[in-house]
Amino acid sequence: MKKIAFITSGGDAPGMNAAIRAVTRACVYNNLIPVGVYKGFDGLINGDFVEMNARSVKGIINKGGTIIKTARSSEFKTIEGRKKAYDNLKKNNIDGLIIIGGDGSFTGGLIFHKEFKFPVIGIPATIDNDIFGTSHTIGYDSALNTIVDVIDKIRDTASSHNRLFFIEVMGKDAGHIALNTGVGAGAEEILIPEEDLGLDRLVESLKRSKATGKSSSIVIVAEGDKTGKNVFELKDYVDENLDGYDARVSVLGHLQRGGSPSCFDRVLASRMGVKAVDFLLENKTNLMVGLKDGIIDLTPLDKAIKGKTNINKELLRVSDIMSI
Ligand code: F6P
Repeated sequence: MKKIAFITSGGDAPGMNAAIRAVTRACVYNNLIPVGVYKGFDGLINGDFVEMNARSVKGIINKGGTIIKTARSSEFKTIEGRKKAYDNLKKNNIDGLIIIGGDGSFTGGLIFHKEFKFPVIGIPATIDNDIFGTSHTIGYDSALNTIVDVIDKIRDTASSHNRLFFIEVMGKDAGHIALNTGVGAGAEEILIPEEDLGLDRLVESLKRSKATGKSSSIVIVAEGDKTGKNVFELKDYVDENLDGYDARVSVLGHLQRGGSPSCFDRVLASRMGVKAVDFLLENKTNLMVGLKDGIIDLTPLDKAIKGKTNINKELLRVSDIMSI
């Protein structure tokens, strides 16, 4: 191994820059040349490569987003696109590829590895925390902190006006963000894709809390919740079926993906970046680094993609008890 390329791919996440920094410096430490590739898989296809050194990544550990940009590539889904990417990697004498991203990016990496036998290691980075083989993905902790901070602010206006707020958070397939921020910010109800408790239960529960003296309430709704209604329709439904509340909707959107990474994400990204380079040097490939019981370990990429992350059911119960 002499040269290692890396990309950030899919939705950006706070801590991606810390991972770029870690991979770059671990390469330099091991006498390898780090090569950053701009705009994810598209950059591989277009040969958008830049050789890095330890100083190219100065001052970025605290920065959100990704300095090498990210993209969701449709061309990499074609064999022609992947062949171009392979040719460019070969032309630049690259010996291994580190993919910093989520499950969509790993799916691309896995197909690429199978077709061209090119060494690939994944570093999980997405705010959704929906990747099997790691208790935490890079960006998740930062997003939780950002979201809790915003919900706290919305609660100020909710309680001042005696309002019921429906707050939509990200998580199109997974409820980890909704569940944890809901408990962390003291929400009355949390709706997630993994558990459809039904609209009647929601209305009954809000009625009950109102009857026990609550003057305002917060309902956290994951983007992908399974009630069959979007957050605005949910608000209308509750408005029609529950008297006495002035209801509002707040969709948090992409602010959840921005901002400076938390200390936890910076440390996680640094550890994962170093290990990803270590594993490539040990000729390990087709794997994802992940945090398991406090240790950075490996999971085959296909398992990381196909495996399901389970929501923490204990948190559902805690939320029920806390919101009496
Ligand atoms: O990064 C994952 C995610 O945050 C999902 O929860 C969300 O549905 C999606 O990104 C939206 O991303 P984009 O607007 O970039 O398509």
